Amino acid sequence: DWTSEQFIDATVAELKEQLGNDKVVLGLSGGVDSSVAAMLIHQAIGKNLYCIFVDNGLLRKDEFETVLDSYKHMGLNVKGVDAKDKFYTALAGLTDPEQKRKAIGRVFIEVFDDEAHQIEDVKWLAQGTIYPDVIESVSVKGPSATIKSHHNVGGLPDFMKLKVVEPLKTLFKDEVRLVGKALQIDDIIIGRHPFPGPGLAIRILGDITPEKVHVLQQVDHIFISNLKKSGLYDEVWQAGAILTPVQSVGVMGDERTYENVVALRAVTSVDGMTADWSRLPYEFLADVSNEIINKVKGVNRVVYDISSKPPATIEWE
Ligand code: XMP
Repeated sequence: DWTSEQFIDATVAELKEQLGNDKVVLGLSGGVDSSVAAMLIHQAIGKNLYCIFVDNGLLRKDEFETVLDSYKHMGLNVKGVDAKDKFYTALAGLTDPEQKRKAIGRVFIEVFDDEAHQIEDVKWLAQGTIYPDVIESVSVKGPSATIKSHHNVGGLPDFMKLKVVEPLKTLFKDEVRLVGKALQIDDIIIGRHPFPGPGLAIRILGDITPEKVHVLQQVDHIFISNLKKSGLYDEVWQAGAILTPVQSVGVMGDERTYENVVALRAVTSVDGMTADWSRLPYEFLADVSNEIINKVKGVNRVVYDISSKPPATIEWE
């Protein structure tokens, strides 16, 4: 039978053999897959693994700093790259979801390519591809799809010409988590909900501005930290908030307000292909709603998304 220990021993041995003294570059996303791939390769080749973690300005509140710290704490050779302004500039004025995805994919490739060029004589590109990514590579929304659509336009960026190493290619998500646990990766990374590559950009309906990102980060943070505090985080497959461009009338003291509506989304799922909305307790929703409206400037109404997938999707864009 499969055990994570055996998998780790065998994979690390293979990676040592395959990679020898070569240098490898890997993009960390803060998610489970890229982190586990990085730790496996790190065990095999140590500092010859060069990790790059890009701040695209579309991550959750404080996520870049927190996750970068835990990567360093895990001993990884990681460089944090602040590319927020490049992403915001490329996104300015874009409202179409696919155009936003493309812009983000394109800037990510530019930033990553620049960074990869700075690693002298790098031979390999490592990726955290897992088995479902391999079989569902037809899926339209994944980051690889973004990369492919870019190729057709401008030709291959240099890092994509590197040899590819994908140590998790045979694993399912739960196996990746077990391997991650055995590798003693921080719980904040292992237990984390999936988060889309384009980040908060596809949870802000309409165009993206740093101000809107800031509003959504605060809302999301209140929702997620309350899920954690109430012990509900692990019962939910994925959760997040959506900033809608809809404004509605409210009242605050004697004043009439006219501010944005945010939606909360939490789903149960096995693989993201189908999903049902989480039956979060009313009391919990009441507390979260109050806290959001009291604390976040610019939001005066909170709604809860009760759509299942299909026919809705998990993300709104
Ligand atoms: P949907 O919205 O299609 O989402 O039901 C299913 C899962 O995929 C994630 N998702 C993405 N992940 N790039 C990603 O890396 C994307 O463009 C993207 N779009 C959706 C979504 O968060 C959910 O986990």
